[in-house]
Amino acid sequence: VEWTDKERSIITSIFANLDYEDIGPKALVRCLIVYPWTQRYFSTFGNLYNADAIKTNPNVAAHGVKVLHGLDRAVKNLDDIKGTYAELSVLHSEKLHVDPDNFRLLADCLTIVIAAKLGNGFTPETQAAWQKFLAVVVSALGRQYH
Ligand code: HEM
Repeated sequence: VEWTDKERSIITSIFANLDYEDIGPKALVRCLIVYPWTQRYFSTFGNLYNADAIKTNPNVAAHGVKVLHGLDRAVKNLDDIKGTYAELSVLHSEKLHVDPDNFRLLADCLTIVIAAKLGNGFTPETQAAWQKFLAVVVSALGRQYH
């Protein structure tokens, strides 16, 4: 994957200004509510009984933050996202058995939460760079599935 300087600067600056504790939980909460089948992977997280339970579940919030920390590894390694995620891809496929279609669903929820946060700052150019970044992440995470 080739990145223009503009794309690099957009992606880096989104992360530099991101409140992980706010955005991470919101994105995972949204994914679990909008796509309820994703809840099945989080059976150890306790009460996911309804939307309010999901929104206030501390395990969900903590994991949302963890996912963003997982993503910032890709930002720091834009030129080798595949290599960066080799291990994480194996974990999600062989150990967690997460259906890789779900990566895109979580990525879309993250895009929606970030768009809401950035408002007018989420220009078409920003969206294009952001979605390209997430598409590369989703592809890298799905790479060790066979
Ligand atoms: C664990 C990142 C998508 C389910 C993790 C971990 C990271 C991570 C960094 C912790 C790994 C470790 O402890 O070494 C990501 C990223 C994703 C993504 C960057 C995509 C943007 C998903 C999706 C699901 C999922 C879509 C399921 C629908 C899980 C589960 C765990 C996990 C069940 C283990 C949780 C636990 O028991 O603590 N993920 N993940 N992940 N992920 Fe993902």
